[in-house]
Amino acid sequence: MNSDIILHVEKVSKTFGGVKAVDGVSFTLQRGDVLGVIGPNGSGKTTLSNLITGFVEKDSGRVIFNGQDITRWPPHKIADAGLARTFQVMRPYPTLPAYKNIIPPLYSPRARRSARGKLGDRSAVAIDILEEVGFERDARVPYKLAGTLPLGYLKRLELCRCLALQPELIICDEVFSGLSMSEIASMVPLMKKLQDSGITLIMVEHRLRELFKIADRAIVLNFGAKIAEGSPQQIFNDENVKKAYFGGEDNTYVFK
Ligand SMILES: Nc1ncnc2c1ncn2[C@@H]1O[C@H](COP(=O)(O)OP(=O)(O)OP(=O)(O)O)[C@@H](O)[C@H]1O
Ligand SMILES: [Mg+2]
Repeated sequence: MNSDIILHVEKVSKTFGGVKAVDGVSFTLQRGDVLGVIGPNGSGKTTLSNLITGFVEKDSGRVIFNGQDITRWPPHKIADAGLARTFQVMRPYPTLPAYKNIIPPLYSPRARRSARGKLGDRSAVAIDILEEVGFERDARVPYKLAGTLPLGYLKRLELCRCLALQPELIICDEVFSGLSMSEIASMVPLMKKLQDSGITLIMVEHRLRELFKIADRAIVLNFGAKIAEGSPQQIFNDENVKKAYFGGEDNTYVFK
């Protein structure tokens, strides 16, 4: 396999009761790229993320990460290999200060290995990571209880849980959802910064305008199946995508 391929997903499927949540989805991701995963509500985006990261067991299909077959690996082993993910439904420790929320991942085997024994004061490391994603140290935001933080910071905290692992690939499940336009505008450069730092990203998103400021390629799911793949232009012009989103009407202006 080409060593520049970081992730290869092959015909992955999952049925819940009679519902085909993910139906034979395949795609390949090059190291350093940003791939969008889009599709209407309930089209299988979160389930696909759960299947790749081992949180839901696959009915069939294979996942290869960095040349290793991780198809049947448990989530902690997948994270330890460098494939991290954020959760659409976030569950921070609300009664702990923000920085303490990312102490546990700093004790993970991967964080220890990545730091080569130099992790030292984990609280200081945690605060550094938070500051990198916009928690203003001077305003003491890292010390605020997670339960009191506005959504924009909670989304960043999700990213920090991943960053503490020094991941190679992060699957971000709707990091823009629920945010105001100005909050999203400040997240876009942050996601670009992560890419520039060498992290490969999969971004599950409904906010297509903002997504395509970062991602140069996307796959489109509908009823669990991949119905299109390609550049924003290819996706906007795809008849199946128009049908899935608008029942066939030419409303592609909403993407632009
Ligand atoms: N644990 C589960 N048990 C039963 N059905 C499930 C489960 N998880 C997901 N589903 C169903 O699988 C389908 C895909 O859901 P999923 O959450 O993956 O969609 P999504 O694309 O992430 O949606 P959204 O954009 O609303 O986040 C839906 O029909 C959903 O109801
Ligand atoms: Mg979802």
